Amino acid sequence: MSQFKTVRGMRDFLPKDAEKIRYVEKIARELAHLYGYEEVITPVLEHYNLLAAKSSEEIRERMYAFKDLGGRRVALRPEFTASIARLIATKMRNAPKPMKLFCTGSLYRYDEPQYGRFREFWQANYELIGSNEPETDMEIITLTNDLARRLGFRRYWFKIGHMGILRGILNQEGVAEGQQNLIMQLLDKKRWDEALTLAKESNISQNGITVLKKTLETKGKDVSQVLKTAKRVVADYDDAVAAIENLGKILELTEKSNVKFETIVEAGFARGLEYYTGIIFELYVPDLEIALGGGGRYDKLIELFGGEQTPAVGVAPGIDRLVLAMDKQKVSLKISEENKVMIIAVDEELRTKAVELSLTLRKAKIPVDVELMGRAVSKALSDADRRGATHAVIVGTKELKEGKVVLKDLKKREQRIVEIKTLSKEILKDTG
Ligand code: HAM
Repeated sequence: MSQFKTVRGMRDFLPKDAEKIRYVEKIARELAHLYGYEEVITPVLEHYNLLAAKSSEEIRERMYAFKDLGGRRVALRPEFTASIARLIATKMRNAPKPMKLFCTGSLYRYDEPQYGRFREFWQANYELIGSNEPETDMEIITLTNDLARRLGFRRYWFKIGHMGILRGILNQEGVAEGQQNLIMQLLDKKRWDEALTLAKESNISQNGITVLKKTLETKGKDVSQVLKTAKRVVADYDDAVAAIENLGKILELTEKSNVKFETIVEAGFARGLEYYTGIIFELYVPDLEIALGGGGRYDKLIELFGGEQTPAVGVAPGIDRLVLAMDKQKVSLKISEENKVMIIAVDEELRTKAVELSLTLRKAKIPVDVELMGRAVSKALSDADRRGATHAVIVGTKELKEGKVVLKDLKKREQRIVEIKTLSKEILKDTG
């Protein structure tokens, strides 16, 4: 019956998949700690208007929005940045700057389900708030680079651009912001011809159209060459030139700091979200067309939410897509080998002793299962094997009388009789 299936676009995560999601989340949280980002938890449900402001037409259309029983227009969050900006504009208004915040959790977009695109997905999200020094943009990129490295990707690269380039051209051409947003959205979707047609319909000068076209063509791996060409292309548009200089400065800083990653600079790069004002970037790996993470600078959003004028930059690596990329690149989870013990009582009367032993071992931080199905020892042993246990402890009457149990090393297929007093030590000894 259909109510026993997950809702379209929603997924169950069985243990192996849940482990991967939590693994990436763990690495992302460790990284937050290493870079001085404090974790915050914001609600999954927010006012629709907060989430809608400055996101994008696409996101606005695809929000899970509804009226709650109190008649409030609310929505499931499609991203974290709006919630963080709300915090900074309100409860964290007086927090000392810079503020470095980390959050992670599930997000919701009514996207068409396909490979790497889900209706419920996870992000790790880092926001660096209160400074527009290029060092802050650099830190966010460095941190993303560090995450990719720590997850063990063999190859990855950043696509980098600057929102100020296209906005600089369009502003000077007198294109209204709403129209600009629609053009950016089409560019984000790689629908370049439609974007240019829309630009033409917005009464841009012939020179403007030529510059836009050339800007879209200006891209490549040689950073200084691309930036030089881009600067020549947009020379008539002061704000666009300033944007390229800012981008150059950030990339120069990363290079001088010896932060190494592959880059493709695209002068005509646009991201769908409307709040971006400065550098924008996305993370990619080979064989996956979709971005594993994206971010950029947004200097006006907090002000728009009633806060002080507060520059900010951030990034959101997509946890689900990082997991997909790890699978694709056959990157294994770096989980340290752990002992896992199954305690089996030979007969019914000894089951409480098995439970007692399990508590002692857990005190020594050894993960323990107790045979709970009332199975005979041989069956219980094959079950322990199937569950990946490293050891089995067999509690039998004879040994117990002498304060001992049988310890089986299931990997080495060896067994010995050990004193209960030294059981945890004996188990730990096996893995050194
Ligand atoms: P975004 O590019 O919309 O940016 O999303 C960031 C990442 O979330 C994407 O690169 C992707 O990995 C993942 N993602 C997005 N939509 C889906 C989906 N439907 N299914 C699976 N994964 C998805 C933001 O959300 C901005 N808030 C990032 C940011 C933070 N900018 C500044 N601070």
